[in-house]
Amino acid sequence: MVPTDATAVAQPNIALVKYWGKRDTALNLPATGSISITLDDLRTRTRVRFSPGLGADSLTLNGAAAPEKLPRITAVLDLLRAQAGTTRFADVQSTNDFPTGAGLASSASGFAALVVAADAALGLHLPPERLSEFARRGSGSAARSVFGGFVEMARGERPDGSDAVAAPLLAATEWPLAVVVAVTSDAAKSTSSGAGMELSRRTSPLYDAWTASSTAALAEARAAIERRDFAALADISEHSSTTMHAVMLSSRPALIYWNGATVECLHLIRRLRETSGVATFSTVDAGPQVKAVCLPEDAARVADALREVPGVLYVRTTRLGPGARLIDPLNDTGGAT
Ligand code: PMV
Repeated sequence: MVPTDATAVAQPNIALVKYWGKRDTALNLPATGSISITLDDLRTRTRVRFSPGLGADSLTLNGAAAPEKLPRITAVLDLLRAQAGTTRFADVQSTNDFPTGAGLASSASGFAALVVAADAALGLHLPPERLSEFARRGSGSAARSVFGGFVEMARGERPDGSDAVAAPLLAATEWPLAVVVAVTSDAAKSTSSGAGMELSRRTSPLYDAWTASSTAALAEARAAIERRDFAALADISEHSSTTMHAVMLSSRPALIYWNGATVECLHLIRRLRETSGVATFSTVDAGPQVKAVCLPEDAARVADALREVPGVLYVRTTRLGPGARLIDPLNDTGGAT
């Protein structure tokens, strides 16, 4: 009898070279590749239990039933069920120790933890690239959280998406950076990234230039990571983030994910770097939170400065961490809360 119950932990990742746009919405295939870093301290913990006694899949998120999120979960579970040749439904219990759906990539850690736990609960033991492919079906960025440290997600060429998977570039320990997250709002975002990407693809006059610039940006970031060249990584990463937001802003109607505090944080991070010599750069996703990537020795200074920005609710500092992994729930070594 295969195990029917497993628990996994995964962390969000932050893209340094962003993806914003899909080449296939049904299979969730990205229009471009992307490069990310997997965080350590923000955790999703997910338990998946398959049982012949269940009449449907169910989801409890942060202690409350979340039926509105169930269709995407069921779609991913269906892929794994097909691999295992079972029709058993599953009970999924997931908790995040950070705000859900607010630009902190909770869907990335959520779907990465889901596929790792479901794979084990079904006794499948699929290779990591298959888990990455299945996580992508839930959320494009989730494909990257299957792995730790620096990760590259391939655009892929195949129509079935089997080559649109992530792969590790460098382990977290090989270039131990820190990330200070400045949270400026706990509210869930108004436009989901999926809907926003489609709007940008259809309406932004900058969209084609954005996707065309991706190959060069990926090569530049890859080279900077290989050389551990922080200044070069700062330059290409900030450019990728601000260019993505230019695409969002030039959509019709405009996608404005920033608030006033977001903008103040961007100015502050630039000032710290240019006038105080602090090794840090900013990156922002589909939400108002600002992530300042920095060298670990500068993290306290960056955190202290961001905390003082009016409108910043709180800051969290994290190192880079490992990919999604199984934990023993009775002897929880994954560190999830
Ligand atoms: O994971 P998705 O498909 O919701 O997209 C996330 C997109 C960004 O976070 C804005 C950029 C990225 O590459 O992570």
